[in-house]
Amino acid sequence: MPAQIIAIFNAKGGVGKTSTAYNLAVALKRFHDKRVLLIDIDPQGHAGAALGIDIMNLEHRIDEVLLEKITIKDTIVKTTSDVDLIPSNILLAEAEIPLSGMPGREVLLRRAVKTISSRYDFILIDCPPNVGMLSINALMTAQKLIIPVDPSYLGLLGIPVIERMLHLIQTRLEHPIEILGVLATRYDQRLNIAREVLASLKTRFGDRLFETVIPETVKVREAPSFQVSIFDHAPTTPGAVAYQKLTEEVLTRV
Ligand SMILES: Nc1ncnc2c1ncn2[C@@H]1O[C@H](COP(=O)(O)OP(=O)(O)OP(=O)(O)O)[C@@H](O)[C@H]1O
Ligand SMILES: [Mg+2]
Repeated sequence: MPAQIIAIFNAKGGVGKTSTAYNLAVALKRFHDKRVLLIDIDPQGHAGAALGIDIMNLEHRIDEVLLEKITIKDTIVKTTSDVDLIPSNILLAEAEIPLSGMPGREVLLRRAVKTISSRYDFILIDCPPNVGMLSINALMTAQKLIIPVDPSYLGLLGIPVIERMLHLIQTRLEHPIEILGVLATRYDQRLNIAREVLASLKTRFGDRLFETVIPETVKVREAPSFQVSIFDHAPTTPGAVAYQKLTEEVLTRV
């Protein structure tokens, strides 16, 4: 059976896309024994870095796949968390212009992923914080989308940007991607603005808002610097419990 392919996307930066992508990937493997591939299509390379990959010294990278220089199988690396990873680094940014001139430029990732999809139960794609060709490739590959939103005024302003992009993907590119869920991240319940934005997300998205809310915690913030997931860094803390709960919710929704 082909994998469930889920993109983690928001055009706004710093909302917890990467934190969600790599912790969800590890949790699906560790607690549910799923075969998981994490694809990093962000030139920042943070998904790989958070899982202990030396992103400045990669043998192969995702840009080589998109530019059709090598096959996708050759870019897969094993991480210590038993999650497979297709890493990226800043060289992916340099590939964006040549990529944009290629025929079928929106579906380069999708064509490559199709060849390995049956090896996995889940393929997660960590997106860059913009609406460019790399994000479009991720959304054209995924069947489902998780939208992490930080509970701030600007976080709320970013929602119509995402909705417009999804509309274009669904209508102009005729790809039936669906929102798996909107995820409130980096939540500090002491802040009025956070509570207000959460209420507003609930009104706007109803059941599509995950019940799980990811709290703003020092442990979630620190974990990438130890190059491990929150489950290795601080397994009993609120951040770990929340990401485990999110994983269970994801499994009930796919
Ligand atoms: N729940 C949280 N609690 C505390 N810090 C967090 C939390 N989630 C993310 N962070 C921190 O906030 C910063 C941004 O998070 P992250 O990199 O996951 O966001 P992103 O949306 O992937 O960012 P970018 O748009 O740059 O790719 C990082 O330093 C991360 O460690
Ligand atoms: Mg990121």
